[in-house]
Amino acid sequence: MLKRRHVLSMKDFSREEIDEILETAESLEPYARGKGSDILDGKILALMFFEPSTRTRMSFETAMKRLGGMTINLGSAEASSIAKGESLADTIRVVGGYADAIVIRHPKEGSARLAAEFSPVPVLNAGDGAGHHPTQTLLDLYTIKKESHLDDLSIALVGDLKYGRTVHSLAYALSLYGADIYLVSPPTLRMPEQIIGDLSRMGTRVREVSDLREVIEEVDVLYITRIQRERFPDPVEYNRVARSYSINTRDLEGAKPELRIMHPLPRVDEISPSIDGTKHAVYFRQSFYGVPVRMALLKMILED
Ligand code: NCD
Repeated sequence: MLKRRHVLSMKDFSREEIDEILETAESLEPYARGKGSDILDGKILALMFFEPSTRTRMSFETAMKRLGGMTINLGSAEASSIAKGESLADTIRVVGGYADAIVIRHPKEGSARLAAEFSPVPVLNAGDGAGHHPTQTLLDLYTIKKESHLDDLSIALVGDLKYGRTVHSLAYALSLYGADIYLVSPPTLRMPEQIIGDLSRMGTRVREVSDLREVIEEVDVLYITRIQRERFPDPVEYNRVARSYSINTRDLEGAKPELRIMHPLPRVDEISPSIDGTKHAVYFRQSFYGVPVRMALLKMILED
């Protein structure tokens, strides 16, 4: 079903397809912890990261290697022929000749879709500017399924909803599961109108609030995000909203005992370390789940 397919946006996926990916991830989880497998023996995954990354890059690499495959890495743009003026289209055509699939992260929205037009092999979008981050969403859904519940979910997306690509992708996917979504952000960092419109058309109950206290008693999951400093055209604007949300144990008063707190990471100061030791915190397990979920994707796309 996913064989040789691009992974560019959650909008391209049905609920049945997502369920199959999550089930495959579940079956591969034992192999993500050291047992390993050789189902992708001889396959090569190319990593092209034009923006900083720790989790996405390293968990893709781990996933490929745990399945017996190999990775090649473009390295920094300065060290590649991009620095000589080569276009993204040409680079993709060339790398597509070396690898069986390409993972790309790029600061420009739409770059992964553009890459897919020129690539002879499947392209996986690992974040295109403020656009989408579909593989993060799949691991977020896997986390919710394992640590909370996907059915009848009430969730608050908190922080930078304007520039945060993880929340854009996640909101579309949550719509497929009938979640109630609260959007909690400063007024200048609201979820784009177009996405809110799409969610409403999909029949999703969406409510915008600016104060977390209004929803803390309602939600099963708090999904907190970093203010995306690198996307602000003006540093003064950033400073105005930096640290607008900084959650500590006091902010959780009245919360459900089974509340789960998620964060795609990296955190700057959105979540106090005092929360790390509570049963609410699942963000470090969430980053581990990137391995089985990316293993599932690579297996489904690349296996012969
Ligand atoms: C996110 C990203 O790059 O969009 N990081 C990640 O992939 N886990 C979130 C962020 O940078 O804030």
